[in-house]
Amino acid sequence: MEKMLVKGGIQLNGEVHASGAKNSALPLLFSTLLAPGKHVFKNVPHLMDIQSTMVLLKHLGCEISWEGSTVQVDVPELKSFEAPYDLVRKMRASILCLGPLMARYGQAKVSLPGGCAIGTRPIDLHLEGLKEMGAQIDVDSGYVFGKVDKLKGAKLIFESPTVTGTENLMMAACLADGVTLIENAAKEPEIWDLAEYLNKMGAKISGHGSSIIRIEGVDRLTPAEHVVIPDRIEAGTLLLAGAITGGEVTVSSCRPDDLDALISKMKESGFKLSIDESSITVHKNTGYTGVDVTTAPHPAFPTDLQAQFMALMTQADGTSVITETIFENRFMHVQELVRLNADITPKTRVAIVRGAPGSLKAAPVMATDLRASACLILAGLAAQGETEVNRIYHLDRGYEKMEEKLSKLGAQICRKN
Ligand code: EPU
Repeated sequence: MEKMLVKGGIQLNGEVHASGAKNSALPLLFSTLLAPGKHVFKNVPHLMDIQSTMVLLKHLGCEISWEGSTVQVDVPELKSFEAPYDLVRKMRASILCLGPLMARYGQAKVSLPGGCAIGTRPIDLHLEGLKEMGAQIDVDSGYVFGKVDKLKGAKLIFESPTVTGTENLMMAACLADGVTLIENAAKEPEIWDLAEYLNKMGAKISGHGSSIIRIEGVDRLTPAEHVVIPDRIEAGTLLLAGAITGGEVTVSSCRPDDLDALISKMKESGFKLSIDESSITVHKNTGYTGVDVTTAPHPAFPTDLQAQFMALMTQADGTSVITETIFENRFMHVQELVRLNADITPKTRVAIVRGAPGSLKAAPVMATDLRASACLILAGLAAQGETEVNRIYHLDRGYEKMEEKLSKLGAQICRKN
């Protein structure tokens, strides 16, 4: 199994670009199921999760070509409406085929995604929404079976915002009869991006990016072209890599507005940042202080940057209280940071990080999920000695050429079998 070796104590400097957003590209690829013909996406990152999505789309009958960062999906009349367990278990986002299949074909059989390292992650809100739209939904033998003559517009009120739930139901509503309102919708930039593409295909969506989304159903959609937005989580991770090593790093080709919560916490901690339309620079620092962070739905601090920010806080002057409100089990990185000599007390959903500059020491550690792997690499960059991050395959699910990008900034990092 591959591992990453990271030499600590080297200041990172220079410029690096953000790739296309994983969590935007995934729903965009699934949205192709809504319209037959050729869809073209640019700025698609090379990631395991994107490959898994393509395997599933091919299984459903689509033809796909991928050159550089451009993906073309040719959608025929589908012959299969099933997302089998073997494909779904590799990637939870596969549930995003449910809404499009129900909308276009009135039938779907999709494996339940099951729990994962960061929490139980139910899909009840996706299923309730489809039922409200008139679908018959049964869960049996680990599968969701959906059937409907034609979905009907409905008023859907989420108990709490869900990102893929909002995406699934927004896609389903595009071809439904009448108007659908999604209230307490998730406001993540990736939802805005998906709605922009759906509108290019002829959908009538408004309010995306706010907590009330209105979708007026249309009879059919036609394929279009789209450029995937930059990955805000990758951009944030690269910025934090510069910060934890005390260097000056510019992340280009990103959307600083999507990272307001991170930027504000970094400034509160004492970092100097320069921001323009599409880049953020973190300037050299000789020290920073601990700040408290609570994750919450966008535009608040993203759960997908919590682990990486915790790595930063281990090197701060003073204590930081980090509260995770989205997923019940997203502190798996804490024990691994402790192996690197960090002083952290985990409680239920709260971690108290007693920062001590220069305290991290290299050790073998194990990545448990995607963002935890990024956190351990950041910690490795700041630790004395060479840190060995095992199970690095998690990283390849969501970070494009991470070691290449960090090497470009001066890091000594390499992959070993
Ligand atoms: N929830 C329910 N019922 C549902 C759906 C969600 O109770 O039917 C709960 C979840 O258990 C969780 C909360 O609602 O406590 C929010 O979950 P959400 O549905 O928003 O998460 P998701 O759509 O499964 C997406 C991202 C995650 C990211 C979360 C939160 C994609 C493909 N995944 O997941 O990304 O952490 O939103 O922002 O967009 C990652 O990239 O590393 C990652 C995990």
